[in-house]
Amino acid sequence: MAGLSRNLFRCILPQFANISRTTTSVTAPTFVTEFHRHRLSLCKERFSSSSSAPKLQKATVNIYFVTKDGDKHQVKAKLGDNLLDVVLENDVDIDGFGACEGTLACSTCHLIFNKADYDRLPEKPTDEELDMLDLAYDLSDTSRLGCQVIISKDMDGIEIRVPSGVADARGDS
Ligand code: FES
Repeated sequence: MAGLSRNLFRCILPQFANISRTTTSVTAPTFVTEFHRHRLSLCKERFSSSSSAPKLQKATVNIYFVTKDGDKHQVKAKLGDNLLDVVLENDVDIDGFGACEGTLACSTCHLIFNKADYDRLPEKPTDEELDMLDLAYDLSDTSRLGCQVIISKDMDGIEIRVPSGVADARGDS
């Protein structure tokens, strides 16, 4: 995994989102795990499909967001994007969502799945995500942080509930 492009590295490890803009290539850390290898394959799929418009059109699934008012919004989600990207690109109106820009520091991207959909998400939460989830508002057994959930084909038709409130783990920042 050495010599990754900056964008690919940030996709694999979003907590390094603030890596220098002047850096064009970075060396992967030595603690590469099966999780990182799986995420690398999803991220490669994302970046390899970006050079062709027709391919990009096909590489989407339908996702439904249910707001706290009960309104249901259908959006197109690109394979390899995370749910923070999906919310921002589709202008889904969620108060304070993604305040730390995917660096796993705020818990404002908290989203809730039904049990069946939660169980079919391709990746399980990491210990770091679980620690941050503990600080989320309206936490449930099927909660995830949107910035850590990568869109895959298996997620087509999935329904996601927006919590009734938001808590920013960074306090008043
Ligand atoms: S956007 Fe801050 S933890 Fe996900």
